[in-house]
Amino acid sequence: MTKTSGEALQKPQTDEIRWPRSGLLDLLGITHPIIQAPMGQHAGPALVAAVSNAGALGSLGCGPMSIGSTQRRIAQVRRASARPFNLNFFAHPAPLVDSDTADLVRARLAFYYGLLGLGAVPRPTDPLPRFDEKRLQLILTTRPRAVSFHFGMPPAATVARIKQAGCVVMGSATTVTEARALEEQGADAIIAQGIEAGGPRGTFTRGDGVGLIGTMALVPQVADAVRVPVIAAGGIADGRAIAAAFALGASGVQIGTAFLGCQEAVVPAPYREALRQASDDDTRLTRVFTGQPARTLRNRMTDELADAEVIDFPAQLSLTRALAKACAKSARTDFVPLWAGQAVPLVRSLPAAALIEALVTESRAWLPRHPVH
Ligand SMILES: Cc1cc2nc3c(=O)[nH]c(=O)nc-3n(C[C@H](O)[C@H](O)[C@H](O)COP(=O)(O)O)c2cc1C
Repeated sequence: MTKTSGEALQKPQTDEIRWPRSGLLDLLGITHPIIQAPMGQHAGPALVAAVSNAGALGSLGCGPMSIGSTQRRIAQVRRASARPFNLNFFAHPAPLVDSDTADLVRARLAFYYGLLGLGAVPRPTDPLPRFDEKRLQLILTTRPRAVSFHFGMPPAATVARIKQAGCVVMGSATTVTEARALEEQGADAIIAQGIEAGGPRGTFTRGDGVGLIGTMALVPQVADAVRVPVIAAGGIADGRAIAAAFALGASGVQIGTAFLGCQEAVVPAPYREALRQASDDDTRLTRVFTGQPARTLRNRMTDELADAEVIDFPAQLSLTRALAKACAKSARTDFVPLWAGQAVPLVRSLPAAALIEALVTESRAWLPRHPVH
């Protein structure tokens, strides 16, 4: 993580910038085409409000949250900001768990449960809420400016109801086929998530090796394939990369890892320290934590269980969560998912508003002076 002092930042002249494509800005009601990625508990109301107040779009990750917690968080964002924000939900199907494979996984994890004094490995459960009628009603009554989905999107009829309530709907694609499917289902914008991205991959096509395309290759192909604005995600941490995303056909960017360096992000000290020390080759794509491919910093879990069998997302999480919790309690990182993208060494330790100012100022140096269309 790069520490940036005030003097390293140029005086911001963010009001002068003219983004090459403005469709996404109009759609989302924002000034800067930067979306802070939803990041579960790490991107809480303070970060979301700070990002939205700075003219970008803050995203509240509601995927793992209960309805009550989601409502409280929305209220906190609204108390701190009157600007547009995004609510993110998971649209994954129920896990298909084969009991023989589950027993293999439990046997492999038993050693680590013993090591941490956790007793027997439990039977798998379905540990994350699915997108349901209650969550739909929550959206329809709170009417955020934007709603984004990961791991697929609800059926077209549900998407239509969200749009009728005045929300912009976005979905994550990791292939051109997924992008087309999301557009067909009614998405107003597509988040093209490249392999560099930190955290869980949004891939919703079943099959090994699907959706492992780099941002540089994916974004222009998705931009050619769909009519709606494309948001580039994965490995973007400074203005050079934002300008590159526009050159590839994107209308905006979604950035996760770089926002983990912000003071408003909820990042435990050992995770923050691991981010600070990480180098370019320190991330791994793994299914070991949740069953879904996700990019994390290397640790004992990814090193020792790289070849381990896993069960379907999110049932795998019900087997590994106790390990992460036990480690977190003693400030260890060995078995904790430390989600991070490949641009992690470019993360800066700044308040969110200063990071956005820096990203916008840096972008200006690389962007054409007139809109391209
Ligand atoms: C800590 C962390 C948690 C994440 N959680 C979510 C999530 O809950 N929902 C989601 O749509 N994307 C999630 N993502 C993925 C981001 O949406 C995005 O694709 C990614 O951060 C972009 O790559 P970058 O991290 O290199 O900027 C997460 C990413 C990180 C780093």
